[in-house]
Amino acid sequence: MTGVAGLVGVLRAIVGADHVLTDADIRATYETDWLRQWHGTTPAVVRPGSAEEVAAVLRACAAAGIAVVPQGGNTGLVGASVPRDGAVLLSMQRFTSIGPVDPLSMQVTAGAGVTIERLQHHARAAGTDFAVDWGARATATVGGAVNTNAGGSRVVRFGTMRSQVMGLQAVFADGSIVTQLDGLAKETAGPHLPSLLVGNEGTLAVVTAARLRLVPWYRETAAALIACDSLVHAVSLLPALRALPSLDAVELLMPDALRLACGHVEVKPPIDPGSAGAFVMVDCAAHRDPSDDLLALLSSATGVLAVGAQREQLYRIRDHITIALGAAGVPLKLDVAVPVQHLDRLVRRVQAALPPSARLVIFGHLAEGNLHVNVLDAGETAPAVREAVLSAAIELGGTISAEHGIGVAKAEWLPRLKGPAAYAALRAIKTALDPANLLNPGVLFPR
Ligand code: LAC
Ligand code: ZN
Repeated sequence: MTGVAGLVGVLRAIVGADHVLTDADIRATYETDWLRQWHGTTPAVVRPGSAEEVAAVLRACAAAGIAVVPQGGNTGLVGASVPRDGAVLLSMQRFTSIGPVDPLSMQVTAGAGVTIERLQHHARAAGTDFAVDWGARATATVGGAVNTNAGGSRVVRFGTMRSQVMGLQAVFADGSIVTQLDGLAKETAGPHLPSLLVGNEGTLAVVTAARLRLVPWYRETAAALIACDSLVHAVSLLPALRALPSLDAVELLMPDALRLACGHVEVKPPIDPGSAGAFVMVDCAAHRDPSDDLLALLSSATGVLAVGAQREQLYRIRDHITIALGAAGVPLKLDVAVPVQHLDRLVRRVQAALPPSARLVIFGHLAEGNLHVNVLDAGETAPAVREAVLSAAIELGGTISAEHGIGVAKAEWLPRLKGPAAYAALRAIKTALDPANLLNPGVLFPR
């Protein structure tokens, strides 16, 4: 077998001709991310239907010397799942099986291609819930969430994806399959391989299924939008918020983010964006109506309570910020986190790095000190702005990726963030598991 043409024939034999897509129009939807930030080309989109087929595909690609880029819902923001340099695109969208909810362990096994929304509905049908949630839930998948260690709005209560993953099935570059889906809550037989693979961005293995922790389904909800004088004021609310037993989410919307999203979904902002320096959206969920928790809070803060349809409207606004930004242009997007006490310093450093023409839209997850820094119209200064923002995050004791991943966007900063010893250890793991650099080359690890 030689070259791509020979490989395509082999891939067809493995997964069936219907699941090797080479038509340019069909490939196009896999070759660009949803926000049109990243583009690439692939000779073929391959859609395997089982871990064994993934293994055979990896072996065939290795034999042909052609790299593989895994892709889930393609809602990523750092270019990790867009094909580069003629790599084969391994679409995980056929891994849609989902097992029964086990009420004894409060766990479920889901295929990599199951969407977060479907997983949530499945869990709720059994009176439980899946804890990780964010705006792209209808399209984003379990596999993508595992690969990026996804976070979202409920991390303050339940932790990130890492805290939900009890086990995984994954295929390594040599085609070997590891299946650890028993979901043992206690297991100390050496390092935990599934944990190692959380956040691997498709560079160490292809995740095909996950055993996931479920949480109680808190059906009674109430939210509030609180107007703060400043970001410092917003941060100062955290101790009181953390004391609320029903606290489910603490989101930050700077005025321009609120204004932009409300404009996009064509609703009147619940509070005039010009009236405050920062807004905190607090969500509470419990088995009993948690409104009183929020009303107590609102007795000493300026804000509005949002229950029922008003809360849904608030979430609609929150969930549309990224989409509104995409409609406004192709923003420079950075996902950083710093210890919360340094958030204000971070924002000041970001502002100081911007050219006058740029428009800064900041929102994020306040409790984790996680800011989504979006810069519109950065023009030629984009690389310098990126450098300034990422350097500031590192210098303030934070991270250059809090939930979106490193991808290709930030790979060159990874060694700086990790430091020599930690980076060398990660690199050694990559080399040991994928010596030919078959899996997602250029992502996470700089070339
Ligand atoms: C959010 C995504 C962009 O927080 O992380 O909406
Ligand atoms: Zn986010």
